[in-house]
Amino acid sequence: MDLTPRLEAIAKSIDECYIIADIGSDHAYLPIYLIKSGQAQKAIASDINKGPAEISKSRIKLNGLEGYIEVRIGDGLKVLDNGEADIIVVAGMGGLTMRDMLSESIDIARGAKRIILQPMRDSRTLIRWLVENDFQVINGEIIKENNKFYEIIWACYKENSYYDRNVKIINESMYYKNTPVLHEYINSKIDEYTKVLEDLKAYNTPNILKRIEECNKELEDYRKVMSWLSLNVEQ
Ligand SMILES: C[S@@+](CC[C@H](N)C(=O)[O-])C[C@H]1O[C@@H](n2cnc3c(N)ncnc32)[C@H](O)[C@@H]1O
Repeated sequence: MDLTPRLEAIAKSIDECYIIADIGSDHAYLPIYLIKSGQAQKAIASDINKGPAEISKSRIKLNGLEGYIEVRIGDGLKVLDNGEADIIVVAGMGGLTMRDMLSESIDIARGAKRIILQPMRDSRTLIRWLVENDFQVINGEIIKENNKFYEIIWACYKENSYYDRNVKIINESMYYKNTPVLHEYINSKIDEYTKVLEDLKAYNTPNILKRIEECNKELEDYRKVMSWLSLNVEQ
């Protein structure tokens, strides 16, 4: 079974583990792949909705892996016991949902050796929460799939790892692998905000003026990221 580049990048980063939990698994592609490849010995595929959990169950059965992958229905990390999963993956949901999920079950999140997150949006807010709650961001990477960019963040809990609680800037240049795709992603953000500002400049209602200010700040920040990345080319 082939994974899409996004799930493949997650799978590739997993050396070997005893139990992996895929939260919001939907179709259970990742756990099935990791069991088949021998990278995980057991897996938990969870979902908050019964429909996706049923799809997972039938795919697991089809692959004859009922003895290796358990399907659980429930909200976020609450389906896990503390210390039960070595690796917790949460992919394909919003960053704010992920942040809430982690903070509601912080002991379970702290108990995992590694947490792998693939937020669909609000990744900076998610990273800020991780850093402020003593999760070390070990790595980050941008993956391109079907002309869309996906962010992946690898983290783990380390007590008192947030050394500078006054840090104001959290951005991709600090945590993400400096690759050509990251440059492409930051440039796409610069283009996106430039276009939004161009479209908004004809209006001057208080709400639009506030939005213009926010977009200008984002644009300035992405330009800064681009210049820092260009100074430190790894690729
Ligand atoms: C877009 S799918 C992502 C599937 C898979 N993880 C992937 O990345 O390809 C999101 C899944 O997360 C589930 N989900 C949303 N909120 C959840 C929560 N709080 N706890 C568990 N699952 C959740 C949805 O039901 C859906 O099946």
